[in-house]
Amino acid sequence: MLLAVAALLVVGSPSPAQAHARPVGTYPADNEVVPEAPNELSVTFNEPVTLAAAGNQVLGPDGAEVASDFSVRDRVLSISLEEALPDGTHVVTWRVTSSDSHPVAGAWTFAVGAPSAHAPAVPVVTEQHDVRLAQAIATGVQYAGLLGLAGLVGVATLLAPVAVRRDAVLVRRWHRTAGGFAVLAALGSTLLAPLSALRTRGEPLAAWWSADTWSEAVRGASATTAAVVVVGVLVTVVALRRGLDVLAAASAATALAAMVLVGHTRSSGPAAVVLGADLVHLGAAALWWGGLVALGLALAPGTGLRPAARAVLVARFSGAAAVSVLGLVAAGLVLYWQVAHSVSGLWDTGYGRTVLLKVALVLPVVALAGWNRYRLLPRLGTGPREDPAGAEGRLRTVVRCEAGVLVAVVAATGVLVNLTPPARSATEPPPPAAERTVTVDVGDGLSADVTLAPGRPGVNGVRLRVTDPNGRPVELDGPPTLTLLQPEREVGPLRRPVTPSASGTWEATADLPVAGTWEVTLAVPLSRFEEPVAIGRIEVQ
Ligand code: HEM
Repeated sequence: MLLAVAALLVVGSPSPAQAHARPVGTYPADNEVVPEAPNELSVTFNEPVTLAAAGNQVLGPDGAEVASDFSVRDRVLSISLEEALPDGTHVVTWRVTSSDSHPVAGAWTFAVGAPSAHAPAVPVVTEQHDVRLAQAIATGVQYAGLLGLAGLVGVATLLAPVAVRRDAVLVRRWHRTAGGFAVLAALGSTLLAPLSALRTRGEPLAAWWSADTWSEAVRGASATTAAVVVVGVLVTVVALRRGLDVLAAASAATALAAMVLVGHTRSSGPAAVVLGADLVHLGAAALWWGGLVALGLALAPGTGLRPAARAVLVARFSGAAAVSVLGLVAAGLVLYWQVAHSVSGLWDTGYGRTVLLKVALVLPVVALAGWNRYRLLPRLGTGPREDPAGAEGRLRTVVRCEAGVLVAVVAATGVLVNLTPPARSATEPPPPAAERTVTVDVGDGLSADVTLAPGRPGVNGVRLRVTDPNGRPVELDGPPTLTLLQPEREVGPLRRPVTPSASGTWEATADLPVAGTWEVTLAVPLSRFEEPVAIGRIEVQ
């Protein structure tokens, strides 16, 4: 079933892309001065996007909003202007949703006729932290319920020996717990639909009840996921109670697999690798967490189970868990690499640090599970009397500890999937402002300082200063040619016009859509016949 869903999603998924959409061009270009007022503006993205309901506007030179109509077709956001633009500088802000269902926002400026003396300020759409927190909690609740239900059903229908499955007390416990997990899964996924709509619109939790939030919520990918999850967990619980094991297992697996419909994995490529890793990760996590709960219920006093039957259950679970933990860790690392593509991102970003936290939590659990398997397991169900060595009591304690840590891992995952992966999004809170300077050798003992301010993704001021060996400014024969390129993400080359400011100093602006190492190429006209080209690298973070 998992494979069938995977195949379906691979066929229907977009071509390999990077997590979060980014703009690859605008019309008019950023900072361009156009002689005539255009009727239509546009932004082209590197992948298909959908329009967010809020955060899209055109501001005129006086800062007032210009009547306009924003629409998206595939990768292009078109803005048709309902009134003629006056002369001067205009600012366009846009907000769209990437195919991973996360919002991305940005802005650019252009001028009609000539730039205004004072350009309008770019309105900032801030992330609503209350919405992010609520999303992380709802995601954690959804995962705890879904993984728990799928793992418990897997153990109850596929792994448990017949003698265990016939114990009426244990079966009642399993059914009740499955019902509880189903409620958590349905609740978490249902809450996520309006929360995702709020985040996309950039609105606070207080806008929860607004009609706009709900009309966007029912149209989003989170609503589709919620529908699959709610129907899936309902069918699972009913089928489990009626003894329809195959149906229960199949519907639990389908509800679990619905998780790949949203999130970073939806738009990180190559699709087959990412979706395969995601399904392995989800299946193994479900077996571990839900299976452990099922096992704990079987080990708790009050059932009529014989020690030998319990020992068989523990042995089977422990064997399956050992294999799945290996798959879980390997798939988790593959997912990190495909989503983030950055080693330093592991400690430089909140996303990376949360993955490291998961690893740090998982390692002691793996050690505990190993101790379970190799020290406690051989002592179970072997003595003539019930549990002669007290091994079951210790096993119960170990199972409780393992389950406690896994709850923390699931909570960390709720946070992780709502964070921005390294260097991917325009909505990441910007780091503190800084200037970044690179000095390039221009030849003949001359050097040029190229300074980017603030040196982070978005619009930057660029200052070029050419100096002689004594640090004195050098007069050039004409304006230098400035080009910026981000080869890793294939952005650019962006050629930026420069204007003179002080002696030997030139200024420009550049909208750098992504972080990373930018190559700055400078052609410096020293005389009519001499124009050396120098290349430097600047880190944009
Ligand atoms: C070494 C251990 C682990 C690593 C490196 C790891 C890493 C990851 C990464 C990178 C993601 C993708 C997040 C995203 O969408 O941006 C992920 C997702 C996830 N992980 Fe883990 N993880 C580990 C262990 C676990 C464990 C022990 C559990 C639960 C018992 C778990 C449950 C999940 C779940 C439920 C998802 C979301 C999958 C989805 O929605 O498609 N992970 N993990």
